[in-house]
Amino acid sequence: MEEQIKKKVLRMISYGLYILTVKTVEKEEIAAGTINWLSQCSFKPPLVMVGVKKDSNSYRLLQESKHFTINILGKDQKDIAQAFFGPTKIENQKLNNYEYYITDSNGVVLKDCPSFFECDVKHIYGEGDHAVVIGEVVEAGLHREDEPLYMLTTGWFYGG
Ligand SMILES: Cc1cc2nc3c(=O)[nH]c(=O)nc-3n(C[C@H](O)[C@H](O)[C@H](O)COP(=O)(O)O)c2cc1C
Repeated sequence: MEEQIKKKVLRMISYGLYILTVKTVEKEEIAAGTINWLSQCSFKPPLVMVGVKKDSNSYRLLQESKHFTINILGKDQKDIAQAFFGPTKIENQKLNNYEYYITDSNGVVLKDCPSFFECDVKHIYGEGDHAVVIGEVVEAGLHREDEPLYMLTTGWFYGG
């Protein structure tokens, strides 16, 4: 296989952009990160699969909490995606400078995002440098209608 072709071809996979958030129940630690490796993979039960970097804080916390939230970014929210490339900071009750709230089911929800869903972790497959996390969708919320942010329109790449 030719490395350059492989890279080019894998970068032709279409993605959206999301903020994955996790909170542990006991210590109430929160981690959040921008992700694009996400897809629904079953109707019944409603399942999604997410590629989560094994050396990230999000991965460490979601192994413990067994629950995570996917905040869906709207078409004009590239700035939010950018704010979650780095470490998670909570200051003045904001997460990396964005307002959030905690749901009854321990979801961490960004107020500005148009929608979100929460998942219980069902399986974690740790083959590569990112683990494949299978989550069952157990809660969903819509703040407002919006077109989602597509990776292609940002000019960024994460894949190849
Ligand atoms: C465009 C872009 C897409 C990303 N997609 C993913 C992804 O799908 N999964 C993932 O684990 N990390 C992804 N990352 C990396 C995380 O955003 C980053 O490692 C994480 O926010 C750092 O979190 P930590 O403080 O928990 O280590 C992506 C980064 C960029 C710049």
